Amino acid sequence: MIGFVAGDVHASERISWIATIGIDPDYRRRGIGRELLRACEARLKTQRIRLSVRASNDGAIRLYEQEGYQRLEVWQGYYNDGEAAIVMEKDRGMGSDHAP
Ligand SMILES: CC(C)(COP(=O)(O)OP(=O)(O)OC[C@H]1O[C@@H](n2cnc3c(N)ncnc32)[C@H](O)[C@@H]1OP(=O)(O)O)[C@@H](O)C(=O)NCCC(=O)NCCS
Repeated sequence: MIGFVAGDVHASERISWIATIGIDPDYRRRGIGRELLRACEARLKTQRIRLSVRASNDGAIRLYEQEGYQRLEVWQGYYNDGEAAIVMEKDRGMGSDHAP
């Protein structure tokens, strides 16, 4: 395995979350993370998708911004070491919500 991604549908809120994504360090910067993200998004039927990322994780934030995510809010002290999380959201604007 060189990478993984998991999506989590919160049907009651009509929002899905990218719960986790990771690529083996030996395989990064080859477009695999972007591809996995898109594959996961394609299986999530909600209009809006969110994720949280460490405030210092510039590479991941750049990827998410390129893929249409915008900064939504900051969760101060979210991680165990006290670092803040940035919550990002992508609104696919389908006009109607396809959530189950
Ligand atoms: C974030 C992560 C999943 C990206 O996976 P990846 O396969 O390397 O990403 P891609 O090759 O698809 O990168 C797509 C674009 O994102 C940006 N990007 C990704 N990693 C970057 C980095 N370290 N520095 C700067 N930009 C970066 C670049 O714009 C890149 O395009 P480019 O290589 O043409 O410049 C991977 O770095 C990772 O597993 N990191 C550790 C775990 C982690 O941080 N997960 C996210 C937690 S929310």
